[in-house]
Amino acid sequence: MIREITPTTTPEQLRAELAAFLADPYPTYRQMRDQTPLEYVFLPPGIAPGIDEPMRAWALMKFSDVYNALRDHETFSSARNPLVAKGIFPPLVLILDDPPRHTRFRRLVNKAFTLRRVEALQPWIARVAHQLLDEIGSGEVDIVRSYTIPLPIRVIAHLLGIPEEDRDTFKRWSDTFISSLVSIPLEQRMKNTQEMVEYFGRMAAARRAHGADDLITALVEADIEGESLQDWEILGFCILLLIAGNETTTNLIGNMLNILVDRPELWQQLREDRSLVEPVIEETLRYESPVQQLSRVTTREVVLSGVTIPEGAMVSVFFGAANRDPQEFPDPDEFRLDRDLRNHVAFGMGIHYCLGAPLARAEAQITLNAFLDRFPRLTRGTAPAVRQTTSPIVYGFQQLPLVLHPREQRYAFSH
Ligand code: HEM
Repeated sequence: MIREITPTTTPEQLRAELAAFLADPYPTYRQMRDQTPLEYVFLPPGIAPGIDEPMRAWALMKFSDVYNALRDHETFSSARNPLVAKGIFPPLVLILDDPPRHTRFRRLVNKAFTLRRVEALQPWIARVAHQLLDEIGSGEVDIVRSYTIPLPIRVIAHLLGIPEEDRDTFKRWSDTFISSLVSIPLEQRMKNTQEMVEYFGRMAAARRAHGADDLITALVEADIEGESLQDWEILGFCILLLIAGNETTTNLIGNMLNILVDRPELWQQLREDRSLVEPVIEETLRYESPVQQLSRVTTREVVLSGVTIPEGAMVSVFFGAANRDPQEFPDPDEFRLDRDLRNHVAFGMGIHYCLGAPLARAEAQITLNAFLDRFPRLTRGTAPAVRQTTSPIVYGFQQLPLVLHPREQRYAFSH
């Protein structure tokens, strides 16, 4: 997919190539990493109104380039995204802001989205995890539909104080938002954003009138030296959480179970030694990063790995490729628990470092422990595992059939 698009490339070819790349981007990363920074066609002409020429971007795939770009937010702006300028992507708060707006916003949301809030949520998350597993029982199940999608959706909905019955709408909104323009047309995406804006606008106004014990109320009340968030900022943040906290966590959990199902010895080891749970989660984040790429725009000419990138250029930061760079992670294509993973960039780096990292880690930990407690063995189901291929941003499964083997029932007979 990282290649020139010729005038003879048909939309069908493009769709098929994109799907193949998204289903397994790692061979492309291996092949291209040393040649990056490299300019490529980010979007083909005609894909949306206002894109009459191919839209180009610079791919960063080396760990050092990705790391340096993420740390240098003055040169690599999150706010100047041309997709936002063209009306293709809505102007998300925080994640698409630069300082000083980003600094002020992040300080205020840090006050509401605290570690304490995540810790307090953990018993509730564990209850939901066990409830979902009770409903599944044992035997073959598509773990995506039955577990990895519902858990994060329910967590975000609970955190925001959203009514249970709106959960399916939630899921549709976040799916549409992160899908590629190739799979969902612009009008549908704009309608989707409008629906979210209206919904969360009503929620923010309601919490301002009557507070509740939820994150939206904490955001309404967050105040630093007289500075507080306005309703449009709160609804923008709710939309961001919905987008940033759902599919990402779904994919972390799915990728982790997919890795473990082929490693029955590691499964046994984990059952006996739970200190391995954390390294398994961190290595999953590196090995199959749930967020594969995001964009920046250069505010000046800059040299990376000896290559000059001009001012005003769009840059694709490939977190997934950086996390498999052999210069940083020896034998990067091996899943190993003895690595130094402090520097993996699965949650980003620098000022935009993932706000929800503790929550995502908690959901993965609770999940893995619950599965280990209940199932002595996991095996693959008869239906095929299918990777998602609609979003270029995330990496995970559309369908992941697993067989959950229950504990053997032992009966004690007295004679
Ligand atoms: C495994 C799950 C997750 C992964 C891999 C992930 C990954 C990331 C990455 C790579 C960034 C950096 C974006 C950038 O540099 O432009 C980010 C930012 C962010 N994430 Fe996550 N995320 C996950 C889960 C969550 C959850 C559960 C939430 C919230 C409930 C969340 C909320 C955010 C927010 C608000 C930002 C923007 C922070 C800022 O711009 O200051 N994420 N995430």
